[in-house]
Amino acid sequence: MNQVITIGREFGSGGREFGHKLAQELGFVYIDTGAMYRTLALACLKKGIDTDDENAVSEAAQSAALDIRYIDGVQHMYLDEEDVSIQIRTEQVSKAASDTSKYQQVRERLVDLQRELSQKYDVVMDGRDIGTVVLPDADLKVFMTASAQVRAQRRYKEYLEKGIEADLGQILKDIEERDYNDSHRENSPLVQAEDAVLLDTSYMNIDEVTRKITELFNAKAGSE
Ligand code: DC
Repeated sequence: MNQVITIGREFGSGGREFGHKLAQELGFVYIDTGAMYRTLALACLKKGIDTDDENAVSEAAQSAALDIRYIDGVQHMYLDEEDVSIQIRTEQVSKAASDTSKYQQVRERLVDLQRELSQKYDVVMDGRDIGTVVLPDADLKVFMTASAQVRAQRRYKEYLEKGIEADLGQILKDIEERDYNDSHRENSPLVQAEDAVLLDTSYMNIDEVTRKITELFNAKAGSE
């Protein structure tokens, strides 16, 4: 049996670097499922599909030539044999992914892929529904949270580091709005799995979070 750690998290409560670091530490494969939703959204955008058109989006989701590959331990997303790992990080794709990830057929396609990956590798799998829907029998489930203020500060700092102008008040407002939408939507809302360990990362850095989860995992593995 492969080992599985699932990470659920509120928007901005600890990024992909963290999941990647944790997986590296344990010799697991890090799977960022948000990147998969973004890739399907990009497929729709490239075809000029209106993201409100559920039928068209569902059809595109079924037929998109999507692939996930690992290069030097880093996840890359492919669409029609093209590496789109950078293209999927734009605001436009982010918004489209948020719109299209609510459709049942989009989710079904990606959930199948996520389960296949967990059968092939030991994984740290990151995504809102992984511990609750995709891999409910995971060895360890972690749900990461941080106060909205701290998450807004982190995002604000990220923007400044990239030389992008930002408004802290607006970021905080966006985060609060996104929290509300994420936890109230019909398909796979953001909820903590009942058996997940809640980790408040407000005052922890990446190394501390990684150490804490490694400890939790080792303690669990030792007790079985
Ligand atoms: O984490 P992210 O911003 O890269 O995710 C992109 C979008 O996909 C976001 O709107 C949430 C959605 N998503 C989802 O519905 N289920 C997942 N397992 C992962 C992401």
